[in-house]
Amino acid sequence: MLTLAIIKPDAVRAGLAGKILAHLEAAGFAVRAARLVKLSPAQAEAFYEVHRARPFYRSLVTFMTSGPALALALQRADAVAQLRKVIGATDPADAEPGTVRKLYAESKEQNAIHASDSAETAAREVAFFFPEAELRELGGSR
Ligand code: CMP
Repeated sequence: MLTLAIIKPDAVRAGLAGKILAHLEAAGFAVRAARLVKLSPAQAEAFYEVHRARPFYRSLVTFMTSGPALALALQRADAVAQLRKVIGATDPADAEPGTVRKLYAESKEQNAIHASDSAETAAREVAFFFPEAELRELGGSR
């Protein structure tokens, strides 16, 4: 099963992309596709469409377009739930010790990493960044 992670602009800017990717690999995730992206405002707005009515939406779009981010299609058993466990709570202050956000995130908004929150979202979010043909070629499966 595949899920989508994004190592966000704060973490890429801080030079933490490699450490975070190593953390994910050590937790059993295999990288099936990776792309360094500088999101346009339209892309960030579309990706976070579900949050459009939230007070933090504009600021989130500004943050997510502030620099390069690393989009990853990750594979392992029970990938969606397992990745959410490994990254920890949205707010690093609430995240469990040893999670990616506890270790590397700055704030509730600039929280180092995104992970899909359900199987349906994962399918949509993986497709947002990676065409299916490319994933098949790399040996990924849905
Ligand atoms: P993510 O897992 O990418 O999903 C939505 C993002 O919105 C979240 O991580 C944070 O970056 C941001 N976010 C969620 N809640 C808040 C909040 N209360 N204030 C600011 N940013 C938030």
